Amino acid sequence: MVMYWVQALLFMTVLFPALVDCKIRHYSFTVVLKNTTRLCATKPIVTVNGKFPGPTLYAREDDNVLVRVTNHVQYNVTIHWHGVRQFRTGWSDGPAYITQCPIQPGQNFLYNFTLTGQRGTLLWHAHISWLRSTMHGAIVILPKKSVPYPFPKPDKEKVIILGEWWKADTEAVVNQAMQTGLPPNISDAHTINGHAGPVPNCSSEGAYTLHVQNGRTYLLRVVNAAVNDELFFKIAGHNLTVVEVDAAYTKPFKTDTLFLGPGQTTTALLTADQGIGKYLIAISPFMDTIVAVDNLTGMGFLRYNHTLAFTPTTLTSIPPVNATAVTSVFSEALRSLNSKEYPANVPLTVDHSLFFTIGVGINPCATCFNGSRGVAAINNVSFVMPTTALLQAHYYSIKGVFTDDFPGQPLIPFNYTGTPPSNLQTMNGTRVYRLAYNSTVQLVIQGNSIIAPESHPTHLHGFNFFVIGRGVGNFDPNKDPLKFNLVDPVERNTISVPTAGWTAIRFRADNPGVWFFHCHLEVHTTWGLKMAFLVDNGKGPNESILPPPIDLPQC
Ligand code: C2O
Repeated sequence: MVMYWVQALLFMTVLFPALVDCKIRHYSFTVVLKNTTRLCATKPIVTVNGKFPGPTLYAREDDNVLVRVTNHVQYNVTIHWHGVRQFRTGWSDGPAYITQCPIQPGQNFLYNFTLTGQRGTLLWHAHISWLRSTMHGAIVILPKKSVPYPFPKPDKEKVIILGEWWKADTEAVVNQAMQTGLPPNISDAHTINGHAGPVPNCSSEGAYTLHVQNGRTYLLRVVNAAVNDELFFKIAGHNLTVVEVDAAYTKPFKTDTLFLGPGQTTTALLTADQGIGKYLIAISPFMDTIVAVDNLTGMGFLRYNHTLAFTPTTLTSIPPVNATAVTSVFSEALRSLNSKEYPANVPLTVDHSLFFTIGVGINPCATCFNGSRGVAAINNVSFVMPTTALLQAHYYSIKGVFTDDFPGQPLIPFNYTGTPPSNLQTMNGTRVYRLAYNSTVQLVIQGNSIIAPESHPTHLHGFNFFVIGRGVGNFDPNKDPLKFNLVDPVERNTISVPTAGWTAIRFRADNPGVWFFHCHLEVHTTWGLKMAFLVDNGKGPNESILPPPIDLPQC
């Protein structure tokens, strides 16, 4: 029998090399609790396959990925393949109650998608409540077989996942915040591949060590899987050459500091060209406003082979917590590679010109601690989660789940970055913005100063967008478009909107379905800084949503 299969496979390879080239990759993700000790305290955490961070999903461009997710915990779960375009396969996108009902305890679901037109690093994470704090991992999309990287081939590749750790149970943290209406407790540490490194008051905390050999080049696939914190990443004594972000190649650029918001990924080359020794790897938070943040630096080590024991570590300075300038320099240096093989297909005409103001607010709440609760909104609408998934409601034309009247402009314009209006209340609604298939969208995301201006890493499901401009203060519709970069803007799926500033993006609505758009700071998602785009089917072949999988979970 085995012989037969081997022969059949050989035969297939000879006859249909292309067929064998794009593979089907099977993964089995079992969601289980695992007792885990960090910062000298132990708690059960929700994991995939008992691992923290979870397993890395490896595939090549064009591969079909099949992940069977089996839920063995007491929570409802879903998994989102953050940044995977999911052409026509919105059913496998993963945000709970947007594209699917959650997988209930004891149930399973087969996520089925194809990796089209993307190469590089992404991440997967739970997309319900705060379970992603411990349920996350990297996705590595290698180029097609025989297609080289558009940069010098590294000797080795390493996945580096940045996270945030709470000593308390994170579901308890968010539940308490929802009950009291107060901001959730900040985390207790930042982790590199699951370890915080040396921390005060706990001498047994492990540290991540990156082992390198002198003269070799390493491709670091850095993933920010933190819950609420934008992070700086630095390695003492070494520069990094950024070559890709969010699974889209960039023009290579050299920097000593990476800046990543939650949900963002950065792939960079590191050459081990310094003296044999041990060098600090530091991850530290960015917060340039009055909001409380976990200010503990996560530490790991870069260690050359043949480093003698007890060699002192070469240290580095970390950027100040409010280093706005470092984030601007990094953001502005990012450019699409825009080569013949990897062109930047920026939409040059705009069918929908949208303006979204984003920020926080305060709504009355009789049962809350102060008689009010923190909320967040887009164009003053705080999104209310439905109990039927939006994609199903759309596909089966179920009435009463959502309305398609999401405002494309603020209903009451005000000085967004100036003195806030006296009324800080938001509206509630489950509203979507409807787009015709293949229409083009320009979206200016304007951070507002209500309560506290803040940097918002904003994520769009189902698409990559081009970041054509950014600035501080209010967007000026007359002057600012003159400076838009329509030639080689960076292409990504998550972008930081600067504190009391704006970011302009463009994308083509070439993917039918319902696509979540939200701040990737989980605290703001929880508070309602989210909405969805509904992209209608096109008329041509391959322009419609595929039928739902038969095992799609029921609510
Ligand atoms: Cu990575 Cu909707 O999230």
